[in-house]
Amino acid sequence: MSKSEVGKRKARPDASRTVAANVVCDRFIFGTYRLSGDSLRTNLKNALELGGFRRVDTASRYQNEKDVSSIVRAFLEQNPDDEVVLTTKIAPTDDSITLMTRVDVVDALRRSLAELSPLHPRVKLRVLLHYYVGDAAWPALEAVVSNRSFYPEFDRIEEIGVSNYHGERLTKLIGSAKIKPVVNQIEFHPLHPDALKTLAICVSNKIAVEGHSLLTQSVMLEAERFTKLAAAYERTVAVLLLRWAFQHGVFLCVSSTSAISERLPDWLDVQSDSLIIQQGDMNSLNKMFDDNFVLYDYN
Ligand SMILES: NC(=O)c1ccc[n+]([C@@H]2O[C@H](COP(=O)([O-])OP(=O)(O)OC[C@H]3O[C@@H](n4cnc5c(N)ncnc54)[C@H](OP(=O)(O)O)[C@@H]3O)[C@@H](O)[C@H]2O)c1
Repeated sequence: MSKSEVGKRKARPDASRTVAANVVCDRFIFGTYRLSGDSLRTNLKNALELGGFRRVDTASRYQNEKDVSSIVRAFLEQNPDDEVVLTTKIAPTDDSITLMTRVDVVDALRRSLAELSPLHPRVKLRVLLHYYVGDAAWPALEAVVSNRSFYPEFDRIEEIGVSNYHGERLTKLIGSAKIKPVVNQIEFHPLHPDALKTLAICVSNKIAVEGHSLLTQSVMLEAERFTKLAAAYERTVAVLLLRWAFQHGVFLCVSSTSAISERLPDWLDVQSDSLIIQQGDMNSLNKMFDDNFVLYDYN
């Protein structure tokens, strides 16, 4: 399939339909933060083959775009009926929270595309702003995808979105955008003060929400407020937190540096109807945002 054919395709098959019955559903994304070298190769390959993941998340900051793309490419070459949604996120070169001009955005896209190339034809590429980098960045991304003839080098970028956008920055972006972000990837756990507020804004504007740091990067897995509730459902805190996010309708960006086969039963449990958090318990979890635990504060 040529590059131009990919851009022209009208209906893509739903990735979940190509996944075998006993693996994760389409709401799961395999995140690759902290994975590199052998650990990336083993875990991402297993996530695709064993876990059935068809969504993969990377970022220029993770410094693994080249390997991620190559592992996905090898998988797709062996699996002609599958396709993968690959997300990368751009940020300033020095990883600082400085503002990005239009030129900075184009340069960042060039760097990421160079790392990801050659992208397999059955990769659907999404690019997100990793965090707020000023008001010029979104119009720059819009220009790249709406003016294809001027930017032919970026024709593989099919969708654009944001990450870590909350409150006024999010509403301002939605109010001024010519193209709405397809997704907002945010820290999503009950202790984050903005998680549910941001979800509500995104839902009312038909922007998908991908949750990251759903397990508080393991920091709060022993917290009593969670352990008691998890015990009532005879589950671990990790499963409880993932299920809470799942019931809120978000996409789950999960990851593992250990063996995927050890984590997979939990992830399957999360998507199963045999585990439903009762409304009263959902309400208790929903009220915990006052505790104000934030891993990533980009404000
Ligand atoms: N947009 C952003 O700014 C942003 C920020 C952070 C992360 N992300 C994305 O989100 C992905 C996930 O985030 P994260 O890894 O930082 O945080 P996380 O999901 O909160 O925590 C990951 C840790 O949870 C553990 N874990 C996974 N499944 C588990 C289970 N069933 N039971 C117990 N522990 C479990 C893993 O341990 P083991 O390694 O031992 O398996 C892993 O180290 C990243 O890979 C990245 O793609 C995006």
